Amino acid sequence: MEAEIASLQAAALAEIETVGDRSSLDAFKVKYLGKQGEITKLSEGMRHVAKEDRPRFGKALNELRQSVTSRVEEREQSLASQADAEVLSRVDISLPGIPAEQGALHPLTHLLDRAVRIFRRLGFAVAEGPDIEDEWHCFDALNTPQDHPARNEQDTFYLPDGRLLRTHTSTVQIRVMENQAPPVRIIAPGAAYRRDEVDATHLAQFTQMEGLYVDRDVSVADLKGTTEYFFRQLFGSETEVRFRPHFFPFTEPSYEIDIRAKSLGGKWMELAGCGMVDPAVFEAICQKRGDRAFDPDVVSGFAFGFGLDRLAMNLAQVPDIRMLVENDLRFLKQFSAL
Ligand code: PHE
Repeated sequence: MEAEIASLQAAALAEIETVGDRSSLDAFKVKYLGKQGEITKLSEGMRHVAKEDRPRFGKALNELRQSVTSRVEEREQSLASQADAEVLSRVDISLPGIPAEQGALHPLTHLLDRAVRIFRRLGFAVAEGPDIEDEWHCFDALNTPQDHPARNEQDTFYLPDGRLLRTHTSTVQIRVMENQAPPVRIIAPGAAYRRDEVDATHLAQFTQMEGLYVDRDVSVADLKGTTEYFFRQLFGSETEVRFRPHFFPFTEPSYEIDIRAKSLGGKWMELAGCGMVDPAVFEAICQKRGDRAFDPDVVSGFAFGFGLDRLAMNLAQVPDIRMLVENDLRFLKQFSAL
């Protein structure tokens, strides 16, 4: 039986050298290592071997199976790398590659990201509200009377059912206070819509960022400190900030904020509206909520809102606001360094 083992081994190892592809290797495996293969058949002969000789033959059979198996594995590997090499030999590595296109942020997105990051450092959370609003959230709750020009169909996009496209993000102030008790500290970036004639400085849809801070003992000093800090972070520590008295129905007192910064071209720019939340707004909220969480005798707050499009235009020195929304790649590609 030892002779049989040796000759089977010699035959198998000689045959495998002639195997040139996968399918003949598979056939080889069946022939020698399969359930009815040569090696298995030989093992069955063990029954006729004397008991004391069995361990020796068993060992020899194992060695046979192992040596054939490991040779098969080697062959498998070399056939696989042969196949790879063949594929690679057909690749022309001198051809130019396909360059990966590097994406870039839209100048408006870039500005918005920076603004949000600054306010988050101050503990403000980002809040959202719907673009399609009702008159109550856009006007009534914001102390804006029926005869206010903003409520005119000439200025506001109304839907046939009486709802409207929000004319400012101040609607989000109302939505937040309806659902959350003080202290409130939020910013709300988003789209706003007005029936403006579209030209180099006006779009019918633009981007605003609202802010609202409500707590006990909030004062104009907090409003000034917060907005000044924000604009200096955004446009540089040299930035000058100026507050001019103004009027908004939902804040009292109200201001407009102008800033002057080198990064914005060194000219005074009218930038934001702001003020202390009008007690009438808090009363509207209390009525809607059915509690006194925003009792104007107990809490106070400030709000601000500003447009981002013109700021982005100034920062990126874009001459026409329409370029921001035309999606012209020749325009957008210039900002890949932002
Ligand atoms: N909503 C005002 C606007 O669109 C801006 C503003 C917001 C003013 C908050 C005061 C307080 O012009």
